[in-house]
Amino acid sequence: MGILGNGGRSHWAQLLLLLGLAFVAGLMTSLFLRIDSCKDVFTERSAEVKDPVPLPKSQAEPDLKTLPSDLLTFRNKCGEAAPVAQVRSMLLNQIFDGVSPFEGFPPPHVEPFLQKEKIKGWGSQDKVFEDLIKEVRPQLIVELGSFLGASAIHMANLSQSMGLQTLILCIDDFRGWPGFRLYTFKDIQQEHGQVMLYYQFLQNVIGTNLTNSIIPVPFSTTSAIEKLCELGIQADLIEVDAAHDFHSAWADINWAWSLLKPGVGIMFGHDYYLHVDNRGVGRAVHLFARLNGLHVQPHGAHWILRRPASPSARRSVLSDLEHLRPGKGQGASREHQGLHDRRLVQLT
Ligand SMILES: C[S@@+](CC[C@H](N)C(=O)[O-])C[C@H]1O[C@@H](n2cnc3c(N)ncnc32)[C@H](O)[C@@H]1O
Repeated sequence: MGILGNGGRSHWAQLLLLLGLAFVAGLMTSLFLRIDSCKDVFTERSAEVKDPVPLPKSQAEPDLKTLPSDLLTFRNKCGEAAPVAQVRSMLLNQIFDGVSPFEGFPPPHVEPFLQKEKIKGWGSQDKVFEDLIKEVRPQLIVELGSFLGASAIHMANLSQSMGLQTLILCIDDFRGWPGFRLYTFKDIQQEHGQVMLYYQFLQNVIGTNLTNSIIPVPFSTTSAIEKLCELGIQADLIEVDAAHDFHSAWADINWAWSLLKPGVGIMFGHDYYLHVDNRGVGRAVHLFARLNGLHVQPHGAHWILRRPASPSARRSVLSDLEHLRPGKGQGASREHQGLHDRRLVQLT
């Protein structure tokens, strides 16, 4: 029988049972502890999420659902229409203290910096100018981007040759762009960083005897348009040729559209095919056309936009985009967002 009799065996069995129970108890305790510590982590994390320190409103994440319509919304109402005959004096009073900028020009300190004539532009005498002036017979033209006045002078000469008394407002900050004097325009002088572009523009207009037809509006496009809009100045023809990146062209086209005479005005611009900013000008023109139910008419290196054929066109295109906006309706997936984005930028 050995050392373990019946009584010995039952002792061993009891001992094993006790050890088993102790093992199970230990296991349970450690499990509870683990769960508890995890619970702490979860509580901490959810506390982070539940009670964030509120951001000041300006730093809060934008509500993406409202972003697209903000980006697409531009003022479209201006002051009461001003008679064209009053535009010149209105502008002289508002911008030039009632004195023509051509009067007494050039002042002695500027004269040494000027050339008798320096008129140079890009496609500034293209056929589109003649075609549109013939078609519209404009009383008032607004030009965004005038530089040395090449296109403005050409339009003024064309108008006169057609027997028109057209006034041309030349909006330009007359700063050119950084580095524009490095090569072709080395001879446009500057003094203490103040470039003589504006003065050379005045000189060119005086030299071509067009001071009755052309008035400079020497400010950024946005602020100048704002002022013209407030004054109720309405253009028969608007030429857009200022900055050529997408966002600048987009803003210029949208703001300037509010200056167009209701029913008849035409807007056109240069650099339709320019590669800058991945064809920024072309993309801006087409996006604007899509959203407003317009047709883009290419004309050489220029684009032309006319009034919509039907006023309901804009509404239907906008509701179309609304339907595709991410987060709206079923299947608001990345794919839909891609479709939405492509629709916005795709050239038609
Ligand atoms: C390409 S040039 C205009 C050329 C002119 N249309 C011609 O054919 O002779 C562009 C002009 O736009 C002006 N410009 C660019 N961005 C502007 C802005 N945001 N506000 C005002 N002028 C701007 C520059 O100063 C420059 O003179």
